[in-house]
Amino acid sequence: MRTVYVNGDYLPENEAKVSVFDRGFLMSDGVYEVTSVLGGKLIDFEGHVKRLERSLSELDMRAPAAMDDLLTIHREMVSRNDITDGLIYLQVTRGNPGDRDFHYPPADTAPTLVLFTQSKPGFAASPLAQRGARVISVPDMRWGRRDIKTVQLLYPSMAKMMAQEAGVDDAWLVQEGKVTEGTSNNAYIVKNGRIITRALSQDILHGITRAAVLRFASEAQMEIEERSFTLDEAMQADEAFFTSASAFVMPVVEIDGTALGDGTPGPVATRLREVYIDESLKRAV
Ligand code: PDD
Repeated sequence: MRTVYVNGDYLPENEAKVSVFDRGFLMSDGVYEVTSVLGGKLIDFEGHVKRLERSLSELDMRAPAAMDDLLTIHREMVSRNDITDGLIYLQVTRGNPGDRDFHYPPADTAPTLVLFTQSKPGFAASPLAQRGARVISVPDMRWGRRDIKTVQLLYPSMAKMMAQEAGVDDAWLVQEGKVTEGTSNNAYIVKNGRIITRALSQDILHGITRAAVLRFASEAQMEIEERSFTLDEAMQADEAFFTSASAFVMPVVEIDGTALGDGTPGPVATRLREVYIDESLKRAV
């Protein structure tokens, strides 16, 4: 049985409790982070904590703990759950006001902090990364502040179900003809050796993996263009890929039934995946 963390306590998962009045449950009034663990160490931890701080501040939400304590709690979760490879999920909500009300509760209401682990032994050697992911496009019907990592994930779940029903691996979201991002990842295409990905704005989540991958790519003298791209452009690209804390760099080999290149993972995505995993492991805490 897993040990989970709730508001200062480490508990068996079946003993952990959150109130029915919790704002996260009633209003999706919460933010989250997913950090990967490789070899028992946290990948890109500082980036995830910084983004958490930003999400909290954009929503005028109180920090649930000193940011230094979050590292201790994450490490404790890795060790108590004996995680070698996997994910740590962290969620902060605006807490329990004791009733349902649209208005935020008084500022001194204690936030709720929950963490749990997901063990995925050997998940960096993903079979999907060998084969390459197939995606479909669906309209982006999410709200306008996708830069805040909130727990309002119903539309991404619907889009994942559309992908599942279409027999593919994931969906890319399209707004005004341009790809915003994937259901739970940032999207990229490669054309004539140039890596093209949408620029940061309120339209997309500012991926921590994205930031690291673009840094490694530019250090390796690869050319990067941060701009929107159309679905047509994507289907005519040499390669495509997506990034996230749980997928690292994932090659995409097909979009809406059209194979990219020869239909196998491209060299840029394959190389970036290796570089990202190697370099992040070196910096892991
Ligand atoms: N998802 N875009 C969206 C909409 C996301 O949900 C995610 C992450 C990303 C990539 O961000 P990062 O590189 O910081 O993981 C982009 C996480 C993994 C999830 O919801 O499980």
